[in-house]
Amino acid sequence: MALRSPLMNVMVTAAEKAGKALKRDFGEVEHLQVSRKGPSDFVSAADVKTEKFLVAELSKARPTFGFVNEEGGIVQGADPDHRWIIDPIDGTTNFLHGIPHFAMSIALQRGPEIIAGVVYNPITDDLFTAEKGMGAFHNNRRLRVSARRTLDDVLVGTGSPYKGRPGHKEFLEQCERVIAVTAGIRRFGTASLDLAFVAAGRYDGFWEMGLQPWDMAAGILLVTEAGGFVSDLMTPASPLDTGNILATNAELQVSLRKVILGTP
Ligand code: IPD
Repeated sequence: MALRSPLMNVMVTAAEKAGKALKRDFGEVEHLQVSRKGPSDFVSAADVKTEKFLVAELSKARPTFGFVNEEGGIVQGADPDHRWIIDPIDGTTNFLHGIPHFAMSIALQRGPEIIAGVVYNPITDDLFTAEKGMGAFHNNRRLRVSARRTLDDVLVGTGSPYKGRPGHKEFLEQCERVIAVTAGIRRFGTASLDLAFVAAGRYDGFWEMGLQPWDMAAGILLVTEAGGFVSDLMTPASPLDTGNILATNAELQVSLRKVILGTP
């Protein structure tokens, strides 16, 4: 059973409340008013509405905290140390295509550190939570990353760069190398849930280039609190700064990185 702090209760309550409306919107996905934000970056009315709701709920509980949001950008709070990092619908493309694999991602950052994270799919009612030093949970069941050590057996999640963004050739080369030596790859289209799957030991690893902080902030804490290892794919920098992430168990992190990057 997950022991939740009052802060985590606030986060879960906000996600579950927002999830009810989002579930209704998903049922009417064809009627949603959709606009295009960039080459492959859709934003829906539901996205904006959900974010506004989450901001209002979280602000009510912690009025001084700032925000880094997918839709609304950076909002400075009176408290310089705390900020929420929110993606109201991670997996927007799935949402717009009626695929019930998307999630709300809510993280709380204190200084440089992520201290709490919630990833919630309101359609399947899958709730993933983590607090710094308190473990990671899926609907109250404690999570642990996989123990697989041999590349032969591992299943690896990934994400492809959208059209109009760089790195397509590099990504395909990475996939080719990974497919050749592992049990397979998956591309489900929701980075926060991909990271939750690593935390749950469903995937043995996950990598992606060009992610935004709101796609991965909560998921990073899920993986580390489940005993996993998260790093930038190529450098010692934080993936929150570079957008290039590798998440896996400690045993695989060297061998998987080598395969992805094609280094000896
Ligand atoms: C996207 C998803 C997807 C990943 C993209 C992200 P969005 O987030 O996480 O899995 O491959 O890079 O942008 O746009 O649906 O919030």
